[in-house]
Amino acid sequence: MLKGKHILVGVTGGIAAYKVCYLVRELKKAGADVRVVMTEAGARFVTPLTFSALSEHETLVDLWADDQATGSSIRTRHIELALWADLMVIAPASANTIAKLTGGLSDNLLTIIALACRAPIVLVPTMDADMYLNPITQKNLVALQERGYYVIAPEEGELASGLVGPGRLPEVETVLQYIGKVLDGSDRDLVSRKILVTAGPTYEAIDPVRFIGNRSSGKMGFAIACAAAMRGAEVTLISGPVHLETPRHVRRINVESAHEMYENVMTEAKETEAIIMAAAVADYTPAKTSPKKIKKTVSGEIPQVELRTTVDILHTLGKKKDGKKLIGFALETDDEFQHALDKLKAKNLDLIILNSLQDEGAGFGVETNVVTIIDAAGHAEKLPKLSKFDVAHRILDRVKHLFSS
Ligand code: CTP
Repeated sequence: MLKGKHILVGVTGGIAAYKVCYLVRELKKAGADVRVVMTEAGARFVTPLTFSALSEHETLVDLWADDQATGSSIRTRHIELALWADLMVIAPASANTIAKLTGGLSDNLLTIIALACRAPIVLVPTMDADMYLNPITQKNLVALQERGYYVIAPEEGELASGLVGPGRLPEVETVLQYIGKVLDGSDRDLVSRKILVTAGPTYEAIDPVRFIGNRSSGKMGFAIACAAAMRGAEVTLISGPVHLETPRHVRRINVESAHEMYENVMTEAKETEAIIMAAAVADYTPAKTSPKKIKKTVSGEIPQVELRTTVDILHTLGKKKDGKKLIGFALETDDEFQHALDKLKAKNLDLIILNSLQDEGAGFGVETNVVTIIDAAGHAEKLPKLSKFDVAHRILDRVKHLFSS
């Protein structure tokens, strides 16, 4: 699998850098062409010369050095290497480099190359347990995963600090296997599947200034879109107003109202094999939108906003499925299972993902979710508290199963 592949190894500062020497040696043994780029901190732990000898290429550290050996110039070397790589693996990936990647900083050769790299990037976070478990590091890792980075969780054990916890570089064999899997696409089990995802709230305008909306952040739908794209699906994401970046390789359409979402879903649905409606679509919209801002009356009269129902998008799709798989979400506060099952039946869905606001770690704006996946036969699978990204993968596992059933 690794034979002839171009593997770029990024080494940042951490004691585990010495283990990466073995990783480079094993990659070479497996027939890969390996190049190593180090941060200055990385080069304090293991000399660049060691990696040059192991990789049989000059190790790059200095952003400003002219590279006579490869004939590339200071102007283009970072881009050449970024394009050369079939895969980049950053091991150990320090908390500092993870934070820089999250923020898009590019202040050394390694982070510049990572920013320009089109190939899959695998991070192996390795650091002290408290640094790893710090919410900011966890948040950064989730953000990077949501943007399409692969992350290998560190192993637990005794750390250089003497503490015991997660933070150790996994065995070289584990990293090799993971890299092999990313390269051979065996986790790309949704290749060419056309999946439509909706996310976020809808805004229903009362006047040019005010609207009726809801608290959906869009994170769950964006995580599904990102995870599906990483697994090779052709993903279209129809999003209500949110403050989230478009995941890599996802085609995004922005909408505002339930009606706009309906129109766009109906257009895109024609070409789609599965539709995952994670959006919190408004059930009601003002019967009339005032073209001018509604002013406060001097008499103190309270304006009445008359509402009408919106079109139920999933219900409409469920009436004529044409072999499409339909997945809905249900956010409930009471009698959760029954309400979700009723929705699944009424809308003719293949799966419904039940969210209960009763569960700690579920709901609006949080990074985690607690869901129960219910299928058309009424069987329920309750998942533990997971990151929204992991929940996304578990939902996609079930969608994949629907494709083959
Ligand atoms: N949905 C939709 N179109 C709407 C409203 C909801 O397609 N106009 C979808 C949502 O995206 C979600 C599912 O239907 O996947 C369930 O939404 P929800 O609002 O919980 O269900 P409702 O049937 O509207 O019931 P209620 O609000 O009374 O709980």
